[in-house]
Amino acid sequence: MNDSKERYGGITRFLHWGMGLLIVWQFMKFFDRINDGEHWVGENLASWHISIGSVILVLIVLRIIWAAKQKNNRPEQEPATAFLVKAGHGLLYLGMVLLPITGLMIMIGKGYGWDPFGVELVAGGGPEIGWMATLGSVHSLIAWSLLVLVVGHAGIALLHHFVKKDGVLRRML
Ligand code: HEM
Ligand code: HEM
Repeated sequence: MNDSKERYGGITRFLHWGMGLLIVWQFMKFFDRINDGEHWVGENLASWHISIGSVILVLIVLRIIWAAKQKNNRPEQEPATAFLVKAGHGLLYLGMVLLPITGLMIMIGKGYGWDPFGVELVAGGGPEIGWMATLGSVHSLIAWSLLVLVVGHAGIALLHHFVKKDGVLRRML
């Protein structure tokens, strides 16, 4: 369950890979740029965007609390690059926090409401809140930034495994 100096524990690994899958799913929203989303990906995957994003909002709160508790028993980083690794992982967290928040700001700011899985939490047809919609519009920019970070992150993990052949990937498996 808990992490250790040797490897990440079950809860950390569940959060990492579960959220990883959901985030890749959320990236399918980029395909809405093709033919206004009128294709298989748009109709079957991107159509879950608000619901899956809302799940990620709950999970990232739990993940941050969990990471704080595990702070002192996680695997060590190589001293030479420890700072870069911390900064990179910190930015991944920042993206996972800011995307659901700005997504919600678009929906509520534009008066569309919020109804994950059909459960109406904020009714649609409400008043437009200009400043909120404006702040929310950084959603797309943050999504592109997270995409670049995730590709880099996964690439580095694979480099560790197949080129450096150390145990960095294995401790998350
Ligand atoms: C980690 C969670 C999320 C990720 C990774 C994500 C990612 C994305 C991506 C990749 C796009 C397409 C942007 C583009 O084509 O430039 C997008 C658009 C959008 N997302 Fe999200 N999103 C997340 C959470 C949410 C949530 C929770 C909501 C609302 C409650 C939301 C609402 C929207 C809306 C309304 C758009 C279309 C408007 C726009 O492109 O600015 N998103 N998102
Ligand atoms: C194929 C995709 C992925 C691979 C191969 C991968 C691999 C890894 C590995 C090996 C670690 C441990 C690094 C270490 O011990 O220094 C790690 C940690 C981490 N990864 Fe990923 N990852 C992937 C996708 C993602 C995605 C999509 C996200 C979130 C946007 C993410 C966020 C994190 C974070 C925040 C950590 C730090 C540990 C934690 O707090 O959970 N990863 N990843």
